[in-house]
Amino acid sequence: MSTSPVIVALDFPNEKTALALVSQLEPSLCRLKVGKELFTRLGPAFVEKLVGKGFDVFLDLKFHDIPNTVAAACDAAADLGVWMMNLHASGGRKMMEAAVDRLSTKAHKPRLIAVTILTSLGEEDLHEIGFAGTPGQNVLRLASLAESSGLDGVVCSPLEAAAIREQAAEDFLLVTPGVRPVSASLDDQKRVMTPADAMAAGSSYLVIGRPVTAAPNPLEALKDIHASL
Ligand code: C5P
Repeated sequence: MSTSPVIVALDFPNEKTALALVSQLEPSLCRLKVGKELFTRLGPAFVEKLVGKGFDVFLDLKFHDIPNTVAAACDAAADLGVWMMNLHASGGRKMMEAAVDRLSTKAHKPRLIAVTILTSLGEEDLHEIGFAGTPGQNVLRLASLAESSGLDGVVCSPLEAAAIREQAAEDFLLVTPGVRPVSASLDDQKRVMTPADAMAAGSSYLVIGRPVTAAPNPLEALKDIHASL
């Protein structure tokens, strides 16, 4: 298993481009995140291929369904050998507890984390779907619900990390995208932190895509990020 806090987001449209990048990386220097696009195109075999190459894989499928269905999906993901997976905390306590219970029966038990409030949702969007309060208040409430439901952590913005860290147990995992090395382009991210600042704010793992995947030399970019920590 890797000791790196960096999770490289494999946001590629096909296997060829994804594997071209992976062949330039090393399991000791990063973990890999597979999301809905790549998984829907390439399926479980691709995930198993990455695991077979020695990488810790974060399967970012954000499950949200009735408890029995989510528990079964988590069981299936565990069988792929993934290191981490996630679901939506808004699926509720019963859904999260069913997933935790099911994973506790597995010989290989991946970490299970929750998405609280998608960062694409503003206060008005939340009110429209019936969530009172600010995005920040909802993030803290759902992070607390995820923790008391037995989850290992949450995905959050590095700007929310310090507030969640304050209310959560020390070993509660905070996995933060929206991270940009000082020299990197912001791309379409608006509110970012540097890797070092995100770690200082309480992040456990940094999800980093384009600063590595679009770099002329991805391995050098990864090493530079490690050197900055
Ligand atoms: O290329 P970049 O570093 O912006 O990639 C960030 C990754 O983290 C992408 O896979 C993106 O979908 C994901 N993500 C995010 N912001 C969130 C949740 C997930 O950027 N709030």
